[in-house]
Amino acid sequence: MATGTVQRRRDMALGSGAELFYDTPLEIVRGDGVYLYDRDGRRYVDMYNNVPCVGHANPVVVRAMAEQQATLNVHSRYLNEGVVTFAERLAGLHHDGIESVVFSCSGTEAVEVAIQMARIFTGKRGLICTDATYHGNSELVGSLTNVGHATKQTGEIRGFPFPERYRPLQEELSEEELCEAYLARVAVAIESLKTAGTGFAALIMCSIFANEGLPEIPSDFMSRVTDLVHREGGLVIADEVQSGYARTGLWWGYEKTQFQPDIVVTGKPMGNGLPLAATAARREVVDTFRAEMDYFNTCASTPLQAAVGMAVLDEIERMELLKNAAEVGARLAGELESRVDLHSVIGDVRGCGLFISVEMIKNDAIREPDAALANSLSESLKDKGFLVSYSGRFNNVLKIRPPLVFSHANADEFLGAFDECMDGMRA
Ligand SMILES: Cc1ncc(COP(=O)(O)O)c(C=O)c1O
Repeated sequence: MATGTVQRRRDMALGSGAELFYDTPLEIVRGDGVYLYDRDGRRYVDMYNNVPCVGHANPVVVRAMAEQQATLNVHSRYLNEGVVTFAERLAGLHHDGIESVVFSCSGTEAVEVAIQMARIFTGKRGLICTDATYHGNSELVGSLTNVGHATKQTGEIRGFPFPERYRPLQEELSEEELCEAYLARVAVAIESLKTAGTGFAALIMCSIFANEGLPEIPSDFMSRVTDLVHREGGLVIADEVQSGYARTGLWWGYEKTQFQPDIVVTGKPMGNGLPLAATAARREVVDTFRAEMDYFNTCASTPLQAAVGMAVLDEIERMELLKNAAEVGARLAGELESRVDLHSVIGDVRGCGLFISVEMIKNDAIREPDAALANSLSESLKDKGFLVSYSGRFNNVLKIRPPLVFSHANADEFLGAFDECMDGMRA
């Protein structure tokens, strides 16, 4: 069936408006490692999807999935050693203050659990987050999205400007002063919650501010904001849905940005495509949550999730993907950085392992964001067989976030295509 026909049927079956990437949407029929194939057999290098972290259709994960499903898959109200072992292994990958795990099926659910945990543990309701974040799509979690908009700065949620050095809160401050300026805004947000009578339960933030556009953070901000939150009686929730699972070249984004969260949320890559997410915290925090909530999630904490989750961790270790993310990511980011001086429309390149942002701008002097350029660049790269996207506060940041099996050879091929696209735009 022609792709156009599938699209028309999709609009009817799923409701028109369900988002698709690209002016001419792709119909992908097969994945293998870092590659995706459309119905005509055309091959694309996937440089966007972090879910298949150990590669599309990874055979070890597929086998673990099939074998477990063929043996047993039940809900969580029976004892299952596999689930316990997986939870122990996951907690063991974190800092010492993370001991127990609540499993769920999506990042949104895991964030919701984290918020409930923090509220129950502190006995307070107020939450703070950045003004350009995304943590999920339920009514509660979705209310954190775009909280920077004045109309949303009410009730139990407050936003603060995400820390960045490219478009700083105030020009001409030293890094130390800039850090202080951002911390002051966090303090204002907390104070506002206290004055409103909701009290302060938690700060939630992505450990590398992925959806904000992967900013360069003033040094010490993350550890100092953690201290501030603790002094104010709150907990720090690290959303590791994008930054976790070796993405930065370390297991966790919070290791990269150097702070110790109280609650950690993981999702997307955990199951390499099988819905699997987790909220992890100190035993006392998890026990208090369990006592209050009697939390049950039918397809979570199952033998299937555990078998697949273990296979993903095994594959990350066997293929040394932390090292791969660190090395390939650093080289690709370095190569892209060397293009900043060649093209005035590239404002900045920021890298964090195999997660790289390329900031597209109209004018170097005032750093005016160019979302249209980011869009047309992603279209041109697609035409050359490379799938990227764009994000950030202004949607002008090219987002490069491939499966962790992305190689130096893939990076070289991409750089060739990137240069051709950039030269084409100048012509
Ligand atoms: C940082 C972050 N947290 C949470 C989520 C929500 O995850 P899910 O789509 O699995 O509910 C997302 C999704 O994009 C995300 O980027």
